[in-house]
Amino acid sequence: MNAADFEGWMRQGQRAVETALQAWVPADAPAGLGEAMRYGVLDGGKRLRPLLVLAAAQVTGGATAAALRAAVAVELIHAYSLIHDDMPCMDNDVLRRGKPTVHVQFGQAPAMLAGDAMQALAFEVLTQEGVPVALQARWCGLLARAAGCAGMAGGQAIDLASVGCPLSEDELRFMHSLKTGALLRASVVMGAACAPLEAACAAALSDFGEAIGLAFQVVDDVLDVTQASETLGKTAGKDLDANKPTYVSVLGLEPAMRYALALRDQALAALQRSGLAPERTGYLRALADKVVQRES
Ligand code: IPE
Ligand code: IPE
Ligand code: MG
Ligand code: MG
Ligand code: MG
Repeated sequence: MNAADFEGWMRQGQRAVETALQAWVPADAPAGLGEAMRYGVLDGGKRLRPLLVLAAAQVTGGATAAALRAAVAVELIHAYSLIHDDMPCMDNDVLRRGKPTVHVQFGQAPAMLAGDAMQALAFEVLTQEGVPVALQARWCGLLARAAGCAGMAGGQAIDLASVGCPLSEDELRFMHSLKTGALLRASVVMGAACAPLEAACAAALSDFGEAIGLAFQVVDDVLDVTQASETLGKTAGKDLDANKPTYVSVLGLEPAMRYALALRDQALAALQRSGLAPERTGYLRALADKVVQRES
């Protein structure tokens, strides 16, 4: 696989996810709720989590049509988490994906409800006919855990409780693994769940997801200080302003980036352990590189 193959595959996956989201997120939900939901999730973002779902399904031989549902569900949870993360009671951000945030555009209550409705919609998408019920149940369990108190929501609670607190490296790793790592890991595991896998292979893919999930948030911390708002599509320099503990504030910029690269290498080592043929894991390897090489 060369760079052009990967770019082509990514664009195709992003288009498929966009089309599926367009179909799933209703325009006609009551009282403008659909408009706020569509504003928050359509036409924006890198779609990294859905791409991980699709790549993991592909590598293990899972059906793309089924995987697309998991991809849409994961993106709905992610987009909901961004809407709530930006609200004044959390990070109080006005710019997201290059546009005014949902609460700026629609107001706080509509933003909160759009997030709530997107979370519910994610599980509705996962439980449609056409996918074996055992897989539906497994997906729901994985996504619920990654989104809830043992995952994203729990990590966000730690994040808000840690403003101005000097966290140890272990505490920081725990917070980041929950708030961001859990959903990225779940993306890989939900994709891989589309096909039957040996336990050792499934465990190795989960390790891959865990390592790139943590790397992703370490790089997010780095980009907050190294990139401009126009590149990021969100306000740069927010973490320092808000006095958030980040990998940059705890380790420093260079060590934080070195740590992200080491995590990428751990992820690649996990892929090797999976026993999957290297010619099949190309997209996952390229996505791992993208996590640490991205500029936004
Ligand atoms: C931003 O995620 C929030 C974090 C978990 C760090 P992304 O950087 O994936 O945001 P989009 O989806 O591309 O907008
Ligand atoms: C948020 O982390 C992670 C989420 C669960 C949404 P950040 O607060 O650092 O994300 P950005 O930088 O606003 O995208
Ligand atoms: Mg935040
Ligand atoms: Mg934020
Ligand atoms: Mg950030």
